[in-house]
Amino acid sequence: MKDVMILTGAGQIGMAIARRMGFGKKIVIGDKNLENAKAIAKIMNDAGFDVAAVEMNLSSKESILNLIAEAQKYGEISMLVNAAGVSPSQAPVETILKVDLYGTAVLLEEVGKVIQEGGVGVTISSQSGWRMPALTPEQDELLATTPAEELLSLEMLQPENIRDTLHAYQMAKRCNEKRVMAEAVKWGKRGARLNDIAPGIIVTPLAIDEFNGPRGDFYKNMFAKCPAGRPGTADEVANVAELLMSPAGAFITGSTILIDGGATASYFYGELKPTE
Ligand SMILES: NC(=O)c1ccc[n+]([C@@H]2O[C@H](COP(=O)([O-])OP(=O)(O)OC[C@H]3O[C@@H](n4cnc5c(N)ncnc54)[C@H](O)[C@@H]3O)[C@@H](O)[C@H]2O)c1
Repeated sequence: MKDVMILTGAGQIGMAIARRMGFGKKIVIGDKNLENAKAIAKIMNDAGFDVAAVEMNLSSKESILNLIAEAQKYGEISMLVNAAGVSPSQAPVETILKVDLYGTAVLLEEVGKVIQEGGVGVTISSQSGWRMPALTPEQDELLATTPAEELLSLEMLQPENIRDTLHAYQMAKRCNEKRVMAEAVKWGKRGARLNDIAPGIIVTPLAIDEFNGPRGDFYKNMFAKCPAGRPGTADEVANVAELLMSPAGAFITGSTILIDGGATASYFYGELKPTE
């Protein structure tokens, strides 16, 4: 038996983190697109990792429980990396809320029930959650603590209250941050830690879909004008994950770290500030 890392989302960010932290572990990758999971598993197995690919849909609790059960066949779960998700240009409002908001909440809760003592998890939200104006303290608390199965019934998430897919994505990512805070309390009772990384524009297939989507010019302008003057790479996100998941990050839990080349800073107080 080995310690197991669960990786959801066989994308570039997930792979970069798994390559950084998954040495010596069994890595079980769950992705809705089994071909993606197999492709990443092959790259990693060819590089000396020990990876199995499983079909998994983050929007289904049954599928999440199945992934956890598959992972437990190899040993105890000591790490979770949740890097599955859909972006505003990839899916309708309902799918974004089901995958990015509800699915993430279920995954964090269910893995939190079985994570090994001393275990660590990270989930990937987005700078998008930092752009939206603050919600009320009551709304924040509802996002943090509403039982996962009731989340999608919250009034603030009903179709008449969600403007478009970007708004749905922002609400989902804000919810991820709040959920990580509430879950970190529970994970802590098991001696485990849970954190969140909020990336800016990181070049991956998901971001490339955004560059080619209806908000393409907006995104290209954002990375050109942000203090870093470029988009980021998945390996730079893995640098943050390494801090959060290693003993150097032992005092960090329930936290969200923004890694966006300064785009959010510029959005509020610099050249990226919206003019209208
Ligand atoms: N790339 C960026 O610029 C960026 C910025 C901020 C946040 N993020 C977030 O990072 C995470 C990872 O994105 P990425 O850029 O590595 O994307 P990616 O496209 O490389 O990978 C995402 C993976 O998630 C999988 N997926 C989609 N829906 C799923 C579902 N229902 N169940 C299981 N798997 C599913 C896809 O098949 C894909 O393999 C996402 O949550 C995304 O919102 C990305």
